[in-house]
Amino acid sequence: MIGRLNHVAIAVPDLDAAVALYRDALGADVGAPRDEPEHGVRVVFISLPNTKIELLHPLGDDSPIAGFLSRNPAGGIHHICYEVADIRAAHDRLSAQGARVLGSGEPKIGAHGKPVLFLHPKDFNGTLIELEEV
Ligand code: CO
Repeated sequence: MIGRLNHVAIAVPDLDAAVALYRDALGADVGAPRDEPEHGVRVVFISLPNTKIELLHPLGDDSPIAGFLSRNPAGGIHHICYEVADIRAAHDRLSAQGARVLGSGEPKIGAHGKPVLFLHPKDFNGTLIELEEV
């Protein structure tokens, strides 16, 4: 069911420092910061030949990233995102297998303007998984 790795998201305590690290030290193609107020994050996308890295920084008072950074002050991998062809079919398949879909359980529009859902990390080896319809 799952297809390509769409991106790996890394929560960072200092976005400017993380941008400089990827751009200057690693020589990556780093995009401009973008605010996603409805998701409580400021994001920077880094394009790699085979996937993307999404740098995540808290935006606003109740950002979902703030708690993660308080537990992981140096930052860390927050989630990985796999592509699926049909988010509704993915949702139904996973629900039937007992996997917990976070939030309302319904797909919503994610940071790339496409339908996404998130799966509980306790059901997937301690990894928060995002599925994105492409
Ligand atoms: Co993501």
